[in-house]
Amino acid sequence: MTKIHAAITGVGGYVPDYILTNKELETMVDTNDEWITSRTGIKERRILKGEGLGTSYMGTEAVKELLRKTNTDPKTIDLIIFATVTPDMPFPATANLVADQVGAVNAFSYDISAACSGFIYALTTGAKFIESGTYKKVIVIGGDKMSSIINYKDRTTCIIFGDGAGAVLLEPTTEEIGIMDSLHKSDGSGANYLHMKAGGSRIPATHASIDAQQHYVYQEGSAVFKFAVTNMADISAQVMERNNLKGEDIAWLVPHQANKRIIDATANRMGITDSKVMMNIEKYGNTTAGTIPLLLWDYEKKLKKGDNLILAAFGGGFTWGAIYVKWAYN
Ligand code: UT7
Repeated sequence: MTKIHAAITGVGGYVPDYILTNKELETMVDTNDEWITSRTGIKERRILKGEGLGTSYMGTEAVKELLRKTNTDPKTIDLIIFATVTPDMPFPATANLVADQVGAVNAFSYDISAACSGFIYALTTGAKFIESGTYKKVIVIGGDKMSSIINYKDRTTCIIFGDGAGAVLLEPTTEEIGIMDSLHKSDGSGANYLHMKAGGSRIPATHASIDAQQHYVYQEGSAVFKFAVTNMADISAQVMERNNLKGEDIAWLVPHQANKRIIDATANRMGITDSKVMMNIEKYGNTTAGTIPLLLWDYEKKLKKGDNLILAAFGGGFTWGAIYVKWAYN
């Protein structure tokens, strides 16, 4: 029987208009442009302003663009998966809200929570529904409104994160293109280093939890950094090895945008030169589940059919993974 692959057949994206620069952050916390640029590679990030606008707003805009670009009738969408840790509400799922907003009336939809690895977890999950022959059109979205859970008085986190969302369409093909392989891991003991203490069932929102500033991202940056460098590089190397890929076979590394130094270390370990590393951290910062689809969105014009891509991420959980994609269109 001919194997069905899940091909990415289009990309959409959305970033808010408001630009929070390093200069502006200098007026908010004790930091400076030189420190932020040299330690992270970030120059500016986007912030979603506007009463009542949540992550679903950005996801909806990304999907609308995706549907327009691929000339897809929303009624033909079978499934929407939204990777996010900043859902509009604990329930319903943000994917449900997006499906309603874009008119995907025949789709079922749900969210995936895997922090910065959310998009690649969701991409693998969506691909399985295509590869099994169950569905023909699956939309995978990654996006976060990180500004909703960041303490803009904490200089160790507020300089890193930004808001944004990207979306891809998955469709079946019998050509040797699409999602070729994936490998994912998680380790819940990593929760100690990166989490949000309150707002869940363990510590619901109370006056005390707000006074204690527990509704913000808590990160032990240098510990997370060490885990990220090792694990993102290891898992990418594993995926390359088991597909007999060398650095020179890779057209693009598509790495989660957390810190330029983590990205450089990963690329170095994989034998991939800088010119083949997708990078937009300087303008969007770390948009958590949004980084990888926003890279594909920014670089779409440079991609050619048959290009070998390695998508790699590491994040809260801990969660991490890598996906080998053969690009499907010019
Ligand atoms: O995407 C999800 C996963 N997250 C990550 O992958 C993030 C991984 N971690 C990182 O990217 C880095 O650890 C950070 C960018 C968060 C921090 O960079 P670092 O090089 O690890 O700095 P550090 O935490 O070791 O701090 C070094 C110094 C400290 O001062 P002292 O104790 O040496 O006097 C900090 O207080 O830099 C200070 N510092 C700052 N200085 C100016 C921390 N934040 C700032 C700041 N501006 N914004």
